[in-house]
Amino acid sequence: MELNNKVIIVSGAGSGIGAATAKLLSAQGAKVIASDIDLSKVEAVVNEITKSGGQAWAKQTDVTQFTEVAALVSETVADHNQIDVMVNNAGIGGEHQRKTAEHTNEDWHNVIAVNQTGVFYCMKTALQQMMKQGYGNIINIASLAGLKPSGYNLSYSASKFAVVGMTKSAALEYGRKNIRINAICPGYTQSPLLDKLIGNKPEMGDTLKKLIPMDRFGEASEIAEAIAWLASDKTKYITGQTIILDGGTSLI
Ligand SMILES: NC(=O)c1ccc[n+]([C@@H]2O[C@H](COP(=O)([O-])OP(=O)(O)OC[C@H]3O[C@@H](n4cnc5c(N)ncnc54)[C@H](O)[C@@H]3O)[C@@H](O)[C@H]2O)c1
Repeated sequence: MELNNKVIIVSGAGSGIGAATAKLLSAQGAKVIASDIDLSKVEAVVNEITKSGGQAWAKQTDVTQFTEVAALVSETVADHNQIDVMVNNAGIGGEHQRKTAEHTNEDWHNVIAVNQTGVFYCMKTALQQMMKQGYGNIINIASLAGLKPSGYNLSYSASKFAVVGMTKSAALEYGRKNIRINAICPGYTQSPLLDKLIGNKPEMGDTLKKLIPMDRFGEASEIAEAIAWLASDKTKYITGQTIILDGGTSLI
């Protein structure tokens, strides 16, 4: 199998894209360390994987807490000797959709803490281990919102542009160390995060779909396929790139 026995950490694996990714990676033979701030959600995902014959372990980790992220990395190495791939997927959208002057300080701090600082903590601790191993592969889940402007959620936009910047800058630093770092940029994708954005306003869903030339939202499983491809050795010459899966939204 493509990912046979690769040790892969996935953050935010309890839901949406992270859950779909944990399932697909394990189906392709990986040993998946599925982490999430919500232990019960990620345990349910791990149960599903192990019942179907895959290898996965649940870990509770809040990516905004450096000591928890460091423990996730060190416990993974203690249990499995190495980290082949780190998928930094945990992310939040913020509570309110407002223009910048009305953007709440609370949304700003919460979104930056998870989406930006969380990715930094995960990259930093994973890179320390990958340097010791002499190889590694980091996949950051950014967003189309990290490549082009999107209104009404400045903190989300700022955090995702930052993820793209951190991906490219670190890829430049670690290419010679046999560590590659890429970002996946999904467009609107079916998940609890998108459900929350649309809320109970179906017209909002219709408005968003008008922005998508393929006329539908992405599926979490479709994003997971690209993550599995980047996790595989088929892509071992790719680093510092942003891979867009958006049904053509970026064309508009
Ligand atoms: N769904 C979309 O339309 C879309 C589009 C572009 C990018 N993304 C990105 O994809 C990633 C996954 O999003 P999703 O749509 O699957 O969302 P989701 O809400 O379904 O899943 C996010 C997961 O992250 C976890 N999480 C939240 N805060 C955390 C923390 N502090 N520490 C650890 N885990 C935490 C949640 O418990 C949840 O299980 C996010 O980074 C998101 O920004 C999503």
